[in-house]
Amino acid sequence: MSSKPSSGNPGGMPYSGYCRDVPQEPDMFLCSVTRGTPGGEYLRRFWHPVAYASELGKVPLRVRALGEDLVVFRDGRGEIGALFLHCAHRNSSLEFGVVEQRGLRCCYHGRLMDVDGRVLEFPGEPQAERMRELVSQGAYRVHVFAGVVFIYMGPPDRVPVFPMYDRLTLPGVELVPGVRLPLDCNWIQLKENTLDPAHTAMLHVIPQWRGMNHFAAEFEAFPEIIWTETPGGLIYLAARRVEGNVWVRSAEVLGATIHCISSIFESGKKAKPATPPFMTFWTLPVDNDKSVNFYVSHVCKDEEMPFEKRRALEIFGQYNDRPYDERQWIPGDHDAMVSQGPINVHAAEFLGQMDRGVTMFRRYVRNGIEGVRRGEDPIGFYLDQNAVPPTFANDSVAPVSEVAGDPADRAVLAAHARRVADAYLKRPPMGDLPR
Ligand SMILES: [Fe+2]
Repeated sequence: MSSKPSSGNPGGMPYSGYCRDVPQEPDMFLCSVTRGTPGGEYLRRFWHPVAYASELGKVPLRVRALGEDLVVFRDGRGEIGALFLHCAHRNSSLEFGVVEQRGLRCCYHGRLMDVDGRVLEFPGEPQAERMRELVSQGAYRVHVFAGVVFIYMGPPDRVPVFPMYDRLTLPGVELVPGVRLPLDCNWIQLKENTLDPAHTAMLHVIPQWRGMNHFAAEFEAFPEIIWTETPGGLIYLAARRVEGNVWVRSAEVLGATIHCISSIFESGKKAKPATPPFMTFWTLPVDNDKSVNFYVSHVCKDEEMPFEKRRALEIFGQYNDRPYDERQWIPGDHDAMVSQGPINVHAAEFLGQMDRGVTMFRRYVRNGIEGVRRGEDPIGFYLDQNAVPPTFANDSVAPVSEVAGDPADRAVLAAHARRVADAYLKRPPMGDLPR
């Protein structure tokens, strides 16, 4: 072939560089997080994490969320406020403000703002009473859960409950707030990673190849994967044989920006109907091309591993905390996701069967965005705590004798995974945990 084909797709041809279209445009309908955009409006129907409560001290904390600059603070009463960064008087930044017994005072002319944005004092302003009716500081509602500060940036007339999923309220399981995991890429890349267990058989095996003792030895056998919708979002189930068992591992995306995983130390060697939750992540879309994962570790009373060791392993490779040469030698999720580009260009991809979770998630978000545009509430938006659905991220390990057919047959593995999914939907696994 001597000239560029009109389709721009040279198929499987060798040395095809010149003949190739190189799409550059990301899908901003899906990926935009900012005010007034379809994606930004969709995201403004959920609670978003902006800080760990432990980060709030004597001075205000400057944060950025959904493309907006904000300041978060805890006043002398213990009330937490999330205000627009720039003072509604002369636009000075409230990150330099003074935290008071009640509210936050701008450093420049001393306007005092309550946590809800109402102005309490206008020092030196003779028309203070009239001003109070005319001006307020932009503010968002705050909710603190498990040491994480969340805000709601959507329409104030319909505020959803903070969804208390079943996995967050289990007796005997402590929730330990995590650390900030910043990633310089669009939030959708982070959720796609969760619904793409095929990557574990490559990315998470590299440490073993390169002599690092890591948790993922079991992942060497490629699993049989299915995906399905759940009441709260999307789930994958990956089935593989381990010795005399078939192990089905799953992870779930809830609403849009939450994801849940079960233990990274599960080996599948011991039969069990269900496992306790391990980590729950709330992703903050910071900008179109920046995100931060906030998370809690679910810590059971009888855990053998010291927590410090567990924490080091659970955040390995999850953010930009290692030198470049080290990340090149043993890359982690952070490196795979961020290197897709600041906003991954879907038009430049070529997806296969194993990428079904990726295509399902994009369709799911697109449906959510279109629904919000029509005035509907998306999955993940609940006005009533009773409407919050059960969650499913879990490991189930069954002896081969309980699997219908020969697990060497991949169709048998897939059918088993399907049965586990059906069983979960009838009887959510969090209810099956030992109390
Ligand atoms: Fe991963």
